[in-house]
Amino acid sequence: MKRPSSNLLALLRADASVAVLTGAGISAESGLPTFRGAGGWWKNYRAENLATPEAFQKNPRLVWEWYNHRRDLVGQHAPNPGHLALAQLESLCKTFALITQNVDGYHQRAGSANVSELHGNVMKSRCSGCGHECEAGMENWKDGLPYCSCGALYRPGVVWFGETLPATALQNAFVAAENSRFLFVVGTSSVVYPAAALPQLALERGAYVVEINDEATPLTPRADEFLQGRAGEILPALVALIQLQEGLPDKR
Ligand code: OAD
Repeated sequence: MKRPSSNLLALLRADASVAVLTGAGISAESGLPTFRGAGGWWKNYRAENLATPEAFQKNPRLVWEWYNHRRDLVGQHAPNPGHLALAQLESLCKTFALITQNVDGYHQRAGSANVSELHGNVMKSRCSGCGHECEAGMENWKDGLPYCSCGALYRPGVVWFGETLPATALQNAFVAAENSRFLFVVGTSSVVYPAAALPQLALERGAYVVEINDEATPLTPRADEFLQGRAGEILPALVALIQLQEGLPDKR
Protein backbone atom coordinates (compact mmCIF):
# COMPACT_ATOMS: atom_id res chain seq x y z
CA MET A 1 0.00 0.00 0.00
CA LYS A 2 1.38 3.40 -0.97
CA ARG A 3 1.37 5.97 1.83
CA PRO A 4 0.03 9.50 1.35
CA SER A 5 2.82 12.00 0.65
CA SER A 6 3.96 14.50 3.26
CA ASN A 7 2.76 17.16 0.83
CA LEU A 8 -0.78 15.81 0.95
CA LEU A 9 -0.75 15.53 4.73
CA ALA A 10 0.61 19.04 5.12
CA LEU A 11 -2.20 20.43 2.97
CA LEU A 12 -5.01 18.22 4.19
CA ARG A 13 -6.41 19.85 7.28
CA ALA A 14 -9.86 19.35 8.73
CA ASP A 15 -10.86 22.83 7.58
CA ALA A 16 -10.09 22.01 3.94
CA SER A 17 -12.99 21.42 1.58
CA VAL A 18 -12.96 17.81 0.47
CA ALA A 19 -14.86 15.99 -2.25
CA VAL A 20 -14.73 12.27 -2.97
CA LEU A 21 -15.79 10.45 -6.13
CA THR A 22 -16.26 6.71 -5.74
CA GLY A 23 -16.80 3.81 -8.11
CA ALA A 24 -17.38 0.07 -7.95
CA GLY A 25 -13.84 -0.57 -6.65
CA ILE A 26 -14.72 0.71 -3.19
CA SER A 27 -17.42 -1.96 -2.85
CA ALA A 28 -15.23 -4.74 -4.29
CA GLU A 29 -13.83 -5.53 -0.83
CA SER A 30 -17.43 -5.91 0.38
CA GLY A 31 -17.84 -8.71 -2.16
CA LEU A 32 -19.73 -6.85 -4.90
CA PRO A 33 -18.43 -7.36 -8.45
CA THR A 34 -16.99 -4.36 -10.31
CA PHE A 35 -17.87 -3.75 -13.96
CA ARG A 36 -14.63 -3.92 -15.93
CA GLY A 37 -12.09 -5.78 -13.81
CA ALA A 38 -11.55 -9.55 -13.63
CA GLY A 39 -14.93 -11.10 -12.81
CA GLY A 40 -16.59 -7.74 -13.56
CA TRP A 41 -20.17 -7.64 -14.84
CA TRP A 42 -19.19 -6.42 -18.30
CA LYS A 43 -16.75 -9.32 -18.73
CA ASN A 44 -19.64 -11.80 -18.72
CA TYR A 45 -22.68 -9.78 -19.78
CA ARG A 46 -23.35 -7.22 -22.48
CA ALA A 47 -24.35 -3.84 -21.06
CA GLU A 48 -26.70 -3.21 -23.98
CA ASN A 49 -28.76 -6.31 -23.03
CA LEU A 50 -29.18 -5.33 -19.38
CA ALA A 51 -28.57 -1.67 -18.73
CA THR A 52 -30.31 0.33 -21.46
CA PRO A 53 -33.92 1.53 -21.91
CA GLU A 54 -34.05 -0.56 -25.11
CA ALA A 55 -33.11 -3.72 -23.21
CA PHE A 56 -35.89 -3.07 -20.70
CA GLN A 57 -38.41 -2.51 -23.47
CA LYS A 58 -37.34 -5.69 -25.25
CA ASN A 59 -36.99 -8.02 -22.27
CA PRO A 60 -38.02 -6.52 -18.91
CA ARG A 61 -37.98 -9.96 -17.25
CA LEU A 62 -34.32 -10.53 -18.09
CA VAL A 63 -33.38 -7.03 -16.95
CA TRP A 64 -35.27 -7.50 -13.68
CA GLU A 65 -33.63 -10.92 -13.13
CA TRP A 66 -30.23 -9.25 -13.25
CA TYR A 67 -31.20 -6.34 -10.99
CA ASN A 68 -32.89 -8.69 -8.52
CA HIS A 69 -29.66 -10.67 -8.40
CA ARG A 70 -27.76 -7.44 -7.73
CA ARG A 71 -30.28 -6.50 -5.02
CA ASP A 72 -29.68 -9.90 -3.40
CA LEU A 73 -25.91 -9.33 -3.45
CA VAL A 74 -26.29 -5.87 -1.90
CA GLY A 75 -28.43 -7.40 0.86
CA GLN A 76 -26.02 -10.29 1.47
CA HIS A 77 -22.96 -8.08 1.81
CA ALA A 78 -22.19 -4.96 3.82
CA PRO A 79 -20.10 -1.77 3.78
CA ASN A 80 -16.37 -2.29 4.38
CA PRO A 81 -13.67 -0.25 6.17
CA GLY A 82 -13.30 1.97 3.07
CA HIS A 83 -16.94 3.11 3.28
CA LEU A 84 -16.66 3.54 7.04
CA ALA A 85 -13.51 5.65 6.68
CA LEU A 86 -15.28 8.01 4.28
CA ALA A 87 -18.13 8.45 6.76
CA GLN A 88 -15.51 9.29 9.39
CA LEU A 89 -13.76 11.69 7.03
CA GLU A 90 -17.06 13.52 6.53
CA SER A 91 -17.39 14.00 10.28
CA LEU A 92 -13.83 15.43 10.42
CA CYS A 93 -14.14 17.89 7.53
CA LYS A 94 -15.89 21.21 7.62
CA THR A 95 -16.94 20.95 3.97
CA PHE A 96 -17.38 17.50 2.52
CA ALA A 97 -19.22 16.03 -0.48
CA LEU A 98 -19.39 12.40 -1.50
CA ILE A 99 -20.25 11.67 -5.10
CA THR A 100 -20.76 8.06 -6.06
CA GLN A 101 -21.37 6.12 -9.24
CA ASN A 102 -22.37 3.16 -7.11
CA VAL A 103 -25.98 2.09 -6.75
CA ASP A 104 -25.55 -0.11 -3.66
CA GLY A 105 -26.30 2.53 -1.00
CA TYR A 106 -23.32 1.34 1.07
CA HIS A 107 -22.06 4.87 1.73
CA GLN A 108 -25.32 5.79 3.45
CA ARG A 109 -25.32 2.46 5.32
CA ALA A 110 -21.80 3.26 6.54
CA GLY A 111 -23.01 6.59 7.93
CA SER A 112 -22.20 9.08 5.17
CA ALA A 113 -24.78 11.86 5.09
CA ASN A 114 -24.00 14.09 2.13
CA VAL A 115 -24.08 11.54 -0.72
CA SER A 116 -24.95 12.31 -4.34
CA GLU A 117 -25.84 9.14 -6.25
CA LEU A 118 -25.03 9.87 -9.88
CA HIS A 119 -26.34 6.52 -11.15
CA GLY A 120 -29.32 6.09 -8.82
CA ASN A 121 -29.89 3.29 -6.32
CA VAL A 122 -30.59 -0.36 -7.08
CA MET A 123 -32.72 -0.70 -3.93
CA LYS A 124 -35.26 1.72 -5.42
CA SER A 125 -37.82 1.29 -8.19
CA ARG A 126 -39.44 3.90 -10.39
CA CYS A 127 -42.71 3.44 -12.29
CA SER A 128 -42.15 3.60 -16.05
CA GLY A 129 -45.67 5.04 -16.39
CA CYS A 130 -46.44 7.57 -13.64
CA GLY A 131 -42.90 7.98 -12.27
CA HIS A 132 -43.83 6.91 -8.72
CA GLU A 133 -40.81 5.81 -6.69
CA CYS A 134 -40.71 3.08 -4.08
CA GLU A 135 -38.25 1.01 -2.06
CA ALA A 136 -37.27 -2.50 -3.20
CA GLY A 137 -39.87 -5.02 -2.09
CA MET A 138 -42.76 -2.55 -2.11
CA GLU A 139 -43.69 -3.37 -5.72
CA ASN A 140 -46.53 -5.71 -6.65
CA TRP A 141 -44.80 -8.66 -8.35
CA LYS A 142 -46.66 -10.83 -10.91
CA ASP A 143 -44.98 -13.43 -13.17
CA GLY A 144 -41.51 -12.10 -12.48
CA LEU A 145 -42.43 -8.46 -13.13
CA PRO A 146 -43.16 -5.61 -10.67
CA TYR A 147 -46.24 -3.46 -11.23
CA CYS A 148 -47.23 -0.04 -9.93
CA SER A 149 -50.77 0.67 -8.74
CA CYS A 150 -51.23 2.70 -11.97
CA GLY A 151 -50.82 -0.58 -13.91
CA ALA A 152 -47.44 0.22 -15.53
CA LEU A 153 -44.20 -1.63 -14.89
CA TYR A 154 -41.70 -0.50 -12.33
CA ARG A 155 -38.10 -0.22 -13.53
CA PRO A 156 -34.98 -0.30 -11.37
CA GLY A 157 -34.19 3.13 -9.88
CA VAL A 158 -30.85 3.36 -11.65
CA VAL A 159 -29.47 5.29 -14.60
CA TRP A 160 -28.99 3.28 -17.77
CA PHE A 161 -26.63 3.93 -20.66
CA GLY A 162 -28.04 6.65 -22.88
CA GLU A 163 -30.08 8.23 -20.06
CA THR A 164 -29.54 11.57 -18.37
CA LEU A 165 -28.27 11.62 -14.80
CA PRO A 166 -30.43 12.90 -11.91
CA ALA A 167 -30.21 16.70 -12.12
CA THR A 168 -29.63 17.46 -8.43
CA ALA A 169 -26.94 14.80 -7.97
CA LEU A 170 -25.18 15.95 -11.12
CA GLN A 171 -25.29 19.59 -10.07
CA ASN A 172 -23.97 18.74 -6.59
CA ALA A 173 -21.15 16.80 -8.22
CA PHE A 174 -20.08 19.67 -10.48
CA VAL A 175 -20.32 22.22 -7.66
CA ALA A 176 -18.17 19.98 -5.45
CA ALA A 177 -15.60 19.39 -8.19
CA GLU A 178 -15.40 23.11 -8.94
CA ASN A 179 -15.11 24.31 -5.37
CA SER A 180 -13.22 21.68 -3.38
CA ARG A 181 -9.57 22.01 -2.40
CA PHE A 182 -9.20 18.21 -2.58
CA LEU A 183 -10.79 15.58 -4.75
CA PHE A 184 -10.23 11.91 -3.89
CA VAL A 185 -11.09 9.58 -6.77
CA VAL A 186 -11.59 6.12 -5.34
CA GLY A 187 -12.07 2.76 -7.08
CA THR A 188 -13.26 3.95 -10.47
CA SER A 189 -11.85 3.14 -13.89
CA SER A 190 -12.51 6.80 -14.85
CA VAL A 191 -13.91 5.90 -18.25
CA VAL A 192 -17.64 6.59 -17.82
CA TYR A 193 -18.83 10.16 -18.39
CA PRO A 194 -19.93 12.55 -17.05
CA ALA A 195 -18.40 11.24 -13.78
CA ALA A 196 -15.01 10.89 -15.46
CA ALA A 197 -15.06 14.62 -16.31
CA LEU A 198 -15.16 15.65 -12.63
CA PRO A 199 -11.43 15.11 -11.83
CA GLN A 200 -10.40 17.12 -14.91
CA LEU A 201 -12.70 19.95 -13.86
CA ALA A 202 -11.30 19.87 -10.32
CA LEU A 203 -7.72 19.96 -11.70
CA GLU A 204 -8.56 22.96 -13.88
CA ARG A 205 -9.92 24.73 -10.79
CA GLY A 206 -6.66 24.09 -8.95
CA ALA A 207 -7.78 21.23 -6.70
CA TYR A 208 -5.32 18.63 -5.45
CA VAL A 209 -6.53 15.38 -7.00
CA VAL A 210 -5.65 12.11 -5.29
CA GLU A 211 -6.46 8.83 -6.98
CA ILE A 212 -6.89 5.68 -4.90
CA ASN A 213 -7.04 2.55 -7.02
CA ASP A 214 -5.34 -0.81 -7.15
CA GLU A 215 -4.54 -0.21 -10.83
CA ALA A 216 -3.55 2.76 -12.98
CA THR A 217 -6.38 4.37 -14.99
CA PRO A 218 -6.59 7.09 -17.67
CA LEU A 219 -6.66 9.60 -14.77
CA THR A 220 -3.40 8.40 -13.20
CA PRO A 221 -0.96 10.51 -15.27
CA ARG A 222 -2.96 13.67 -14.52
CA ALA A 223 -3.61 13.08 -10.80
CA ASP A 224 -1.45 14.96 -8.30
CA GLU A 225 -1.03 11.77 -6.32
CA PHE A 226 -1.73 8.11 -7.06
CA LEU A 227 -2.14 5.92 -3.99
CA GLN A 228 -2.01 2.44 -5.43
CA GLY A 229 -3.69 -0.23 -3.35
CA ARG A 230 -6.98 -1.27 -1.81
CA ALA A 231 -9.42 1.44 -0.80
CA GLY A 232 -10.36 -0.53 2.32
CA GLU A 233 -6.78 -0.24 3.55
CA ILE A 234 -5.72 3.18 2.25
CA LEU A 235 -8.77 5.17 3.36
CA PRO A 236 -8.74 4.06 7.03
CA ALA A 237 -4.97 4.73 7.13
CA LEU A 238 -5.48 8.19 5.65
CA VAL A 239 -8.23 9.07 8.15
CA ALA A 240 -6.04 7.85 11.03
CA LEU A 241 -3.20 10.11 9.82
CA ILE A 242 -5.52 13.11 9.64
CA GLN A 243 -6.78 12.39 13.15
CA LEU A 244 -3.23 12.14 14.40
CA GLN A 245 -2.33 15.39 12.69
CA GLU A 246 -5.36 17.14 14.17
CA GLY A 247 -4.65 15.71 17.61
CA LEU A 248 -7.88 13.69 17.58
CA PRO A 249 -8.26 10.18 19.00
CA ASP A 250 -8.17 7.31 16.50
CA LYS A 251 -11.73 5.95 16.66
CA ARG A 252 -11.17 2.92 14.39
P1 OAD B 1 -15.23 -0.21 -13.01
O1 OAD B 1 -15.52 -1.66 -12.86
O2 OAD B 1 -15.14 0.33 -14.39
O3 OAD B 1 -13.87 0.14 -12.28
C1 OAD B 1 -13.59 -0.29 -10.97
C2 OAD B 1 -12.23 0.25 -10.60
O4 OAD B 1 -11.99 -0.09 -9.24
C3 OAD B 1 -11.06 -0.30 -11.41
O5 OAD B 1 -10.26 0.77 -11.86
C4 OAD B 1 -10.30 -1.18 -10.41
O6 OAD B 1 -8.89 -1.16 -10.64
C5 OAD B 1 -10.64 -0.51 -9.10
N1 OAD B 1 -10.61 -1.39 -7.91
C6 OAD B 1 -11.03 -2.67 -7.79
N2 OAD B 1 -10.91 -3.10 -6.51
C7 OAD B 1 -10.40 -2.06 -5.81
C8 OAD B 1 -10.06 -1.87 -4.44
N3 OAD B 1 -10.23 -2.85 -3.53
N4 OAD B 1 -9.57 -0.68 -4.05
C9 OAD B 1 -9.39 0.32 -4.97
N5 OAD B 1 -9.70 0.20 -6.27
C10 OAD B 1 -10.21 -0.96 -6.69
O7 OAD B 1 -16.32 0.56 -12.13
P2 OAD B 1 -16.75 2.10 -12.20
O8 OAD B 1 -15.62 2.96 -12.57
O9 OAD B 1 -17.51 2.39 -10.97
O10 OAD B 1 -22.58 2.50 -14.78
O11 OAD B 1 -17.78 2.07 -13.41
C11 OAD B 1 -18.46 3.24 -13.76
C12 OAD B 1 -19.82 2.92 -14.29
O12 OAD B 1 -19.71 1.97 -15.36
C13 OAD B 1 -20.74 2.22 -13.30
O13 OAD B 1 -21.38 3.11 -12.42
C14 OAD B 1 -21.71 1.51 -14.20
C15 OAD B 1 -20.72 0.94 -15.19
O14 OAD B 1 -21.21 0.58 -16.41
C16 OAD B 1 -23.81 2.18 -15.19
O15 OAD B 1 -24.27 1.05 -15.07
C17 OAD B 1 -24.56 3.31 -15.81
